[in-house]
This record gives sequence, C-alpha cells and structure tokens, in this order.
Amino acid sequence: MLDFNTIEQLDKIATPFYYYDMDLFYKTVDHVAELAAQRNLKVHYAVKANAEKRLLEYISSKGFGADCVSGNEVLHAHECGFRPEKIVYAGVGKSDKEIYNALMLGIEAFNCESLQEIFVINEMAHHYGVKASISVRINPDIDAHTHKYVTTGLYENKFGISQHEFDKLIEIIRKSEHIDFFGLHFHIGSQITRVSEVFALECSRVNDIVRYFEDKGLTVRNINLGGGLGVDYDDPDGNPIADFDTWFDTIAGNIVHREDQAVHVEPGRSMVAQCGTLISRVVFVKSGETKNFLIMDAGMNDLIRPALYGAYHKIENLSARMRTFFPTHQAYDIVGPVCESSDVWGAGRLLPLSVRGDLMAIRSAGAYGQVMASRYNMKDIAPAVFSDSLEEATAAVDYFA
Ligand code: LLP
Repeated sequence: MLDFNTIEQLDKIATPFYYYDMDLFYKTVDHVAELAAQRNLKVHYAVKANAEKRLLEYISSKGFGADCVSGNEVLHAHECGFRPEKIVYAGVGKSDKEIYNALMLGIEAFNCESLQEIFVINEMAHHYGVKASISVRINPDIDAHTHKYVTTGLYENKFGISQHEFDKLIEIIRKSEHIDFFGLHFHIGSQITRVSEVFALECSRVNDIVRYFEDKGLTVRNINLGGGLGVDYDDPDGNPIADFDTWFDTIAGNIVHREDQAVHVEPGRSMVAQCGTLISRVVFVKSGETKNFLIMDAGMNDLIRPALYGAYHKIENLSARMRTFFPTHQAYDIVGPVCESSDVWGAGRLLPLSVRGDLMAIRSAGAYGQVMASRYNMKDIAPAVFSDSLEEATAAVDYFA
C-alpha cells in the first residue's frame, strides 16, 4: 500500500507511468534466491515478463540465469549482466539471424521446439565451426487449469515436441554431430494457481519422459520445468510475494533426479508482477445513459492484459485516499482513451467519488505490462519510475498546466 508521502511525490509526475516498488522487488528476488538455494534449484528469470534494465541487472547480480524467447532478449539479457552460459533460449520460430547471434554468444542452451529447428541449428553450427548446446522442449499434454491464451502444454498448443516424435527426435539428436544434448525443457502455462496439483502432475509426467530418453541412451543433464507460478491479482497487498514455498516444495517432493542432473525453473510473472503499478489519472468523468464512466489517460496500449485476456487488475483512487472527508462510493466503468470498445479497465467497479485529475493505481502491473505496451493510436510509451529515485522522475504534470 502506497504511503501518503509517496502519493504526493507521484502526483508531481506526468502520467501514465509504471511505478516500481524497489523494496518489494528486492525482497521478492532475495526470497526466491534463498529458497532456491535451500532446495538446490536453478532459477532462470523469464525476461519476457519485464525487461527493464534496472530489474535485470539486480536479478543477474544475484546469480540467476535468464530464460529468453527472442534474439533481442538474448542480447539484452547479456547486456544486463547475464553471462552467456546462464542464458537459455526458447521459442517456436527462431530466425537464422537470431540463431546465429545466440550461437556466437555461446549460450547455455537453445530450447528447441521442433525437429526441423534441431536440423537447422546443427547445420548452422557446422557451417560456423561451433558446437551448439541444445535442450528439447517437450509438450507433455498437461492441463495447467489457467486461461486458454496462457496454456502452453497441451497438444493443441504450438509449443514443444510431442510424444509421437520422440523416437525420431532421439535418432536426430544421435546423428547430429554439431550439437551437444543438454536436457529437456517443459513449460505448461502461466498464472497457475492450483500449484501443488498442477506441478505435481507436471513432475510425474516429466519423470516418465526423462526415464524414456535415458532408457534410449541419452543423458539428460538438465531438467527445466519452466515457469507459471500465479500471483494474487485480487489482493496484492495481502499477498505481495507469490507462494514460492509451495511451488518449490512441490517440485522438490515430486521430481526424481540424480545428483548430476540439475533441476531448473523459469519464473517470470511471480518475480515482478506485484512490484509494478501503472499510475494513471482521471481525465474526464462522464455519466452515460446507464452507467458512469471514469476515463483515464492510461489505456490498452499501456497494459493490454484486460483487453486481451479479460484479466482483472485491482484499481485504486490514490487521490481520494488523501482527502480528509469521508467519501461516498459509486460504481464506475473505468475505461482508457483508446478508440476500441475493449479498452476497459474494469466494469462496475466501486470507487470513492472520483474527479478529473485524480491519481489512480492499476495494481499488479509489473509483469507483462510495460513489455507488451504498444504505440497504438500513436500514444506515447509510458516510462518506468523507480521508488528509490522518484526525484529523478522530473517530467512535470501537464494537468492544469
Ligand atoms: N518459460 C517459458 C518458456 C515461457 O513461455 C514463459 C511464459 C515463462 C517461462 C514464464 O512464465 P511465468 O512464470 O511468467 O508464468 N502475457 C501473458 C503471459 C504469457 C506467458 C508466456 N510465457 C499474461 O499477461 O498473462
């Protein structure tokens, strides 16, 4: 919860912007590092959730690796301090240029998602006289019980290689002289809330698959279980840090591995969602025929999750919190300025009486927020503002200027 002093400072900055609570961020990262070390798990942060340089530099400084899904993410992670041997690179459609750059950097592993990709990487490694380290992403056909757009481990999804190709895959790995087989990769979905049930099931499928590959003579050195731990969008103040204990305990209790086999996870959202808030301002209040609209200056171009997935983000009126009188509450449809009917932050939200210029907080926006922003309607990109350097965010408010 933001204190009065912080709200006063935020009120001086031009909106919209992403505000990062660095205390919570450091606390979360340190907590994950400690728990992972206790259970001997390797953690690679999924850069796609938030690629802010300051955040990546801290995460890399704590010894985490990086999970990337594009050539630019690989290069950016490297620039932010991740050593090449701690970078893995997944994605179903890696271009030749992306493969070339990652090969030259000498990353820990390409997580290959099709037989043809392995063939191409082997050819390119041959051509450039290097050896490519590869893992294979497997589609384990598991229902992660989450939103259909963020489910990735079912046969109907485009990700990974399915069981019917296992034997062909093993054959190709054996024959490819320019690749070095590192291990198996899985990632079944995101915002998973049935943590013990879903991850125990994942581990049991993974155990069977690892055994299958090893029985056929391949040594699986690395078992990468992907990310997916959910966060509490309803109550970010009640649960500011996701339940890493349950996630890691479920893995430690269910995965079968030898001493020489590393177990690896790739959290993205759970490491950064709660430390980020999209700060916006009410531009107009409008009473429609059947409802009241609060029109904000932040829209789906800044944070697309509600429009794209119908995702819920808690919304608070920060200015109303500063007022001394007891506010009446009213139901609002909170909307953005973009010319799309789906540019809605929340329908029928009960808020204290709100007026033009009020500062609003869209919570739990640290993951898949800034990174998915666009310039649709030629809007400006909302910048990042960090809690420990608020005075540097000098851009003045243009409201009533
Ligand atoms: N590893 C791989 C291979 C992934 O594809 C992902 C996320 C992760 C790890 C990290 O998953 P996380 O711990 O963040 O759940 N834009 C969507 C989420 C898409 C997730 C894509 N893959 C959203 O806003 O909900």
